[in-house]
Amino acid sequence: MYAIKTENLTKKYDESIVVNQLSLNIIKGEIFGLLGPNGAGKTTTIKILATLLKPTSGSAEVWGYNVLKEQDVVRKSIGIVFQSPSLDFELTGRENLDFHSRIYNLDRSVRKNRIEEVLELVELSDKADTLVKHYSGGMQRRLEIARGLMHYPKVLYLDEPTLGLDAQTRRRVWEYIKKLNVSEQITVVLTTHYMDEAEQLCDRVAIIDHGEIIALDSPENLKTTIARDIISLQVVDRKKLLEVLKSSDFAAEIIFNELVEESVYLGVENGEK
Ligand SMILES: Nc1ncnc2c1ncn2[C@@H]1O[C@H](COP(=O)(O)OP(=O)(O)OP(=O)(O)O)[C@@H](O)[C@H]1O
Ligand SMILES: [Mg+2]
Repeated sequence: MYAIKTENLTKKYDESIVVNQLSLNIIKGEIFGLLGPNGAGKTTTIKILATLLKPTSGSAEVWGYNVLKEQDVVRKSIGIVFQSPSLDFELTGRENLDFHSRIYNLDRSVRKNRIEEVLELVELSDKADTLVKHYSGGMQRRLEIARGLMHYPKVLYLDEPTLGLDAQTRRRVWEYIKKLNVSEQITVVLTTHYMDEAEQLCDRVAIIDHGEIIALDSPENLKTTIARDIISLQVVDRKKLLEVLKSSDFAAEIIFNELVEESVYLGVENGEK
C-alpha cells in the first residue's frame, strides 16, 4: 500500500484545468516534493489530498482511505501546514497546540505529554508560554510544524514550509523536517518553488507545471537530466558577487531569489567543477 495514491486526479475551475490527470504513488516513509512555479497547482493538489477541496474527476487515497468517501479517517491520518500562516497570534505557543489537540479529541494526559514532545522537537520549549505575536517568522513556522504533528498523523503536508524565511532559518527548518521524518516515522509531502530545497530534503520530486507532472525522479537524477546545473549560493553582498561574475565566463545564467535576499542561483554548464 502507498501512503498516497492518485489516479488521473483532475481539478477544473470553469474552463481552466488546474490539476490535470495527476497520477502519483507516494511511498510510505518518504519525503516527497511537489516542485513548481506559482500557479502550477501545488496547493490545489494538497487541498484535495487533505479533503478540503473536491476533485472534478479522478481518485485519491491517503493511507488507503478514499478522500471523497472516507473524509474523517483521511483527516485523522494527516497533518497540514498551510502556505499562509494560520496560528492564533493572541495565544501562546502552548495554547495554540492545546487548542488544536482539543479539536482532535486527544486525551488530557496524551495532550500534555505530546505538547512537550513536539515543542522539544522544534526547539521551542523555552518559548512555550510566549504569545505567538512575539515569535519571529521562523519560530512561527516551527510552531506550525509542531502543531501539524500533535495528533500523530501518518502523513504531513507542508505547503511552502520555508517561504519568506532567511537562509539560516530555512536550513534549520530543513533539519526539523528531516528529523521528524525519522523520529516520527512520518511521510512528508511538501511543495516548494526551490530546487535547492527539494534537493536537500526530498527522496523524490515531481516537477509540476500547469497541473501536470513533467518529470518525477530523485533530485540527483533530475539534475543530470536538466542539462544546466544550478548552483545555489548564500551571499552577503549581491552587488559585489555580480561584479565578479561579470568578469568571469562560467556563469551562463544568474537568478536572484527575490524571496530570500541572500540567495543567488547560478546556472553553469558543469556544476561539479
Ligand atoms: N477558487 C479558485 N477559483 C479559480 N481558480 C483558482 C481557484 N483556486 C486556485 N485557482 C487557480 O488554480 C491555479 C493553481 O493554483 P494553486 O494555488 O494550486 O497554485 P500553486 O502551485 O500552489 O501556486 P503558488 O506557488 O503560487 O502557491 C492558479 O492558476 C489559480 O489561479
Ligand atoms: Mg501554493
